[in-house]
Amino acid sequence: MLLAVLALAGCGSNRVNSLQPHSHAARQIDSLWWWMLGGSAVGFGVIAVLLLLGWTRRHREQLPFGGGDRAATALVVGLGIAVPLVVLTLLFVWADVFVVKSTAAPKPGSTRLEVDVVGEQWWWDVRYPASGVVTANEIHIPVGVPVRLVVTTRDVIHSFWVPELNRKIDTIPGRRNAIELLADRPGRYLGQCAEFCGLQHAHMQFLVYADPPAVFRAWLAGQARKAAKPTANLARAGERVFLREPCAACHTIAGTSADARVGPDLTHLASRSSLAANTIPNTHDSLADWIGDPNHAKPGAKMPRLDLKPADLRALVAYLETLR
Ligand code: CUA
Repeated sequence: MLLAVLALAGCGSNRVNSLQPHSHAARQIDSLWWWMLGGSAVGFGVIAVLLLLGWTRRHREQLPFGGGDRAATALVVGLGIAVPLVVLTLLFVWADVFVVKSTAAPKPGSTRLEVDVVGEQWWWDVRYPASGVVTANEIHIPVGVPVRLVVTTRDVIHSFWVPELNRKIDTIPGRRNAIELLADRPGRYLGQCAEFCGLQHAHMQFLVYADPPAVFRAWLAGQARKAAKPTANLARAGERVFLREPCAACHTIAGTSADARVGPDLTHLASRSSLAANTIPNTHDSLADWIGDPNHAKPGAKMPRLDLKPADLRALVAYLETLR
């Protein structure tokens, strides 16, 4: 049974696993889950044994294990009312005192670092207001440092969930919800939209990288820079394609005239490990396939197919690959 439970919870390299907590909040949620599973397994076992006893001794006048009406009343009051009342009260108090408190939204200004996340159909816009850094689908945080994450959306309700780090938090139009991210140890944590939000809901993933503080500072400084001017001829041609074709009407590349906010910010696209909200890896071939036909990799994706000339597509990919 345990294996089945673990399989349902999702064990695997690229799956979310709520039973592998890497923060205080996630550990509280994890242990509550195990206690609830254990408690309900015991309850289920007791009921199954009683049903079995009742069935095998169904021709007797008395209760399966003897005793008269008073024993029957004691059984109903004890197992039917008293035990559930005590167990549910304990679980409620535990959940309320420990789990709710340790997963509570941090107050504004209570952390040194704040990150704004906007749920879009179907990707995540990520902004570091203090440094002006904008990225998408990949959030970097310093390990061991609490980060206040503020989530919102402009379209439909999404739910931001990194199971190994904390509970879910819904992104609701017109509301700013907050949650704390605090990772115990460096690593890559998979996140997933946890509220059905349309055709590509299941492909609305993201990654949280918990970096050692020095690595995080270097990453942030790199992301704060504008895009470098391409030097190679093919990449320079690609920049012209980007600015001439509809790409620039939806995306921003800091340092160029492209400053639209419909799609993800591409200023440092090549520094990310995945494309299309962690649907495909960020490699030369998959980047070319993605631009050539976004709906092939992600049916329903709102990025249009531009039918670029093969030479233009090659140049565009070469340019995007310079955006480190
Ligand atoms: Cu966004 Cu589901």
